[in-house]
Amino acid sequence: MKAYEIVSDGGIDALALNERPDPKPGPGEVLVRVRASSINYRDLSTIEDPVPRNIPYPRIPNSDGAGDVVEVGAGVTRWKTGDKVCGCFFQGWQDGDITPEIMGRALGGTVDGMLAEYVVLREDGLVAMPAHLSYEEAATLPCAALTAWVSLVEKGKVKAGETVLLLGTGGVSVFALQFCKLMGVRTICTSSSDEKIARLKQMGADEVINYRTHPEWQERVLDLTGGRGVDHTVEVGGAGTLERSIAATRVTGSIGLIGVLTGGTVNPVMIMRKSIRLQGIYVGSRRVFEDMNAAISQHGLKPVISETYDFADARQAFHAMRAAGHFGKLVVRL
Ligand SMILES: NC(=O)c1ccc[n+]([C@@H]2O[C@H](COP(=O)([O-])OP(=O)(O)OC[C@H]3O[C@@H](n4cnc5c(N)ncnc54)[C@H](OP(=O)(O)O)[C@@H]3O)[C@@H](O)[C@H]2O)c1
Repeated sequence: MKAYEIVSDGGIDALALNERPDPKPGPGEVLVRVRASSINYRDLSTIEDPVPRNIPYPRIPNSDGAGDVVEVGAGVTRWKTGDKVCGCFFQGWQDGDITPEIMGRALGGTVDGMLAEYVVLREDGLVAMPAHLSYEEAATLPCAALTAWVSLVEKGKVKAGETVLLLGTGGVSVFALQFCKLMGVRTICTSSSDEKIARLKQMGADEVINYRTHPEWQERVLDLTGGRGVDHTVEVGGAGTLERSIAATRVTGSIGLIGVLTGGTVNPVMIMRKSIRLQGIYVGSRRVFEDMNAAISQHGLKPVISETYDFADARQAFHAMRAAGHFGKLVVRL
């Protein structure tokens, strides 16, 4: 089979498209013919910076993929040939809290990922694709969608009528907007681009702020909430945006701490004074993935794909993510 491999710390252009022996499923394992793989910012960081992440070479990148079950190993009861499936970011995280052992089974990080023609996964490391989605659409779900869902629903316990702050228009934030719309939650969204702001409005964002032309955007968020602040923030910016997100979140509100897009230092005092619940989020379990897919199926929700690339052009997809011109997800089709 063909697979992309991280073989050095040379970045995107050093990503190698190599031949590997076709994998065979062992007991309790499933062979999946990958039909699409989506890209997350984390996959880009892994390719650009494998050394501090202790990534051994060669390593197949990408946590996210969807495809067909083509063979099952001995004892597999959950799947049969022909089933359409998505891989789970963490192999074997069934439910409950994450553990250090589960953190050691991250596709495209601590174990080989999905940017390959075939993968072998644990039978409990897969979920069924929502029936109304294409492979490309389903391949966007395992990381970005699930992380947004965990921030809003599983941990944030956001309710209809509440207000949520979303930063930027990447994979996580666009899914978060779609989930807020289906839950009846008011959204305040930010972006650096007026063109993307127009798309956010088309998707039903209630309020939008250009964070480039309004660098003190947290003040605008406070104005838009009568000085109170939002109930929940989906924080993808990291250290460079967190203090503003804290300022924009109401007293006793919550922040899902997800992203590391920007650097800086953070003064934690206002987390204490405002009694804000700051929850670190690291994707989610298979049970929550299945809950999310039930909602996606019920509402016929369609992921927003910015661009789709052929397998041979996968490097271009990572360059596109680095350029940050995308809105929603970038997908590689196999
Ligand atoms: N903890 C987890 O489990 C988890 C899971 C998924 C992702 N993440 C992290 O979450 C972050 C987002 O991931 P992603 O895959 O959605 O990334 P992405 O698709 O590459 O999103 C990038 C977008 O973020 C926006 N952005 C960049 N700098 C910003 C800033 N200073 N303020 C506001 N928005 C900013 C930009 O939107 P505009 O172009 O509209 O300005 C940019 O296009 C990454 O750090 C990623 O590693 C963590």
